[in-house]
Amino acid sequence: TANVSPDRPIVTIQQHIIEGQQRYPGATGELSWLLSGITLATKIIQDRVRQAGLLDVLGATGTNNVQGEMVQKLDVIANETLMRCLGYRGNVGMMISEEDAEPRIVQDVGEEGRYVVLFDPLDGSSNIDVNVPIGTIFSILRRKPDIDRSDAMPHILQAGIQQVAAGYVLYGSSTVMVYTAGDGVHIFTLDPAIGAYVLTQENVQMPENGRTYSVNEAYSLTFPRGVQKYLEWAKSEEAGGYSLRYVGSLVSDFHRTLLRGGVFLYPPTQKDQFGKLRLLYEANPIAFLAEQAGGIASDGRQRILEKQPRSIHERTPLIVGNRDEAKRVLSFWGE
Ligand code: AHG
Ligand code: MN
Ligand code: MN
Ligand code: MN
Repeated sequence: TANVSPDRPIVTIQQHIIEGQQRYPGATGELSWLLSGITLATKIIQDRVRQAGLLDVLGATGTNNVQGEMVQKLDVIANETLMRCLGYRGNVGMMISEEDAEPRIVQDVGEEGRYVVLFDPLDGSSNIDVNVPIGTIFSILRRKPDIDRSDAMPHILQAGIQQVAAGYVLYGSSTVMVYTAGDGVHIFTLDPAIGAYVLTQENVQMPENGRTYSVNEAYSLTFPRGVQKYLEWAKSEEAGGYSLRYVGSLVSDFHRTLLRGGVFLYPPTQKDQFGKLRLLYEANPIAFLAEQAGGIASDGRQRILEKQPRSIHERTPLIVGNRDEAKRVLSFWGE
């Protein structure tokens, strides 16, 4: 874990990507160019988030989205900001958002638009008005070369193992970007004085023994029996002392799990029998990061990254955490 100190070089995220890509002769600078569209958008979003009470950006818009949720003003601001920053990068062909029922196809990029970007523009919307951390989650796929673009779906409905890169920005006490391109998980902190994301932790690995579970226990009576048994065990003498931490925004609950270990669960519930979290732009990017950090991400039966998506807003149960703890949950779940 590299901390920024006087004798360490200042590495920005663009530099880190380009250096990383030099290890892959086949890679081009295109990913860093695409990523600069995401970093630009999140710098604008974090500025609005941090001034929310001063600008008229709090509260709901009064409309519902395709998820059946009441859309918050900041959901729309974040979504439009990402669309405006990514739509003109020249190498992005399609953008899929939690807030849009259908994919947005970028016109006139032709063959150049070889990337598909999927995102949750603002994760944890229920926390916005109460100043609890929220975030932006993104996932990057490459368009399938051998399929024409008349039908967007085959390019979008790819399993998570096909992700080229993924990450999130957490608008917390500081603004951090957590990112992987398949070569480890790296954390960058936004230095507001210079408006740049600077590398602050490299090759992050989840600790092996996290005694924290993160779940909305209000729904526990309708959880699968195996999950209920894990939660009973974690409270038992034998378990030796667990704590429950649940922020209610996936990016916050996962970021703590990445750095401290433990396990986050969103099991099937009576309301969401396939879980609440969306596969393409919540579970897949989080699962990519978790595995790159030595952890596990499963839907209770299979590896998240191997799930074949059937629709763009498809939901999935999610268990994600350090290897031992996630395996323990799965051992109870499988019973
Ligand atoms: P979003 O705000 O993008 O719709 O996501 C909210 C998700 C996720 O951030 C969090 O883990 C989960 O909803 C919390 O759900 P409950 O309120 O049902 O616990
Ligand atoms: Mn939502
Ligand atoms: Mn979300
Ligand atoms: Mn969201």
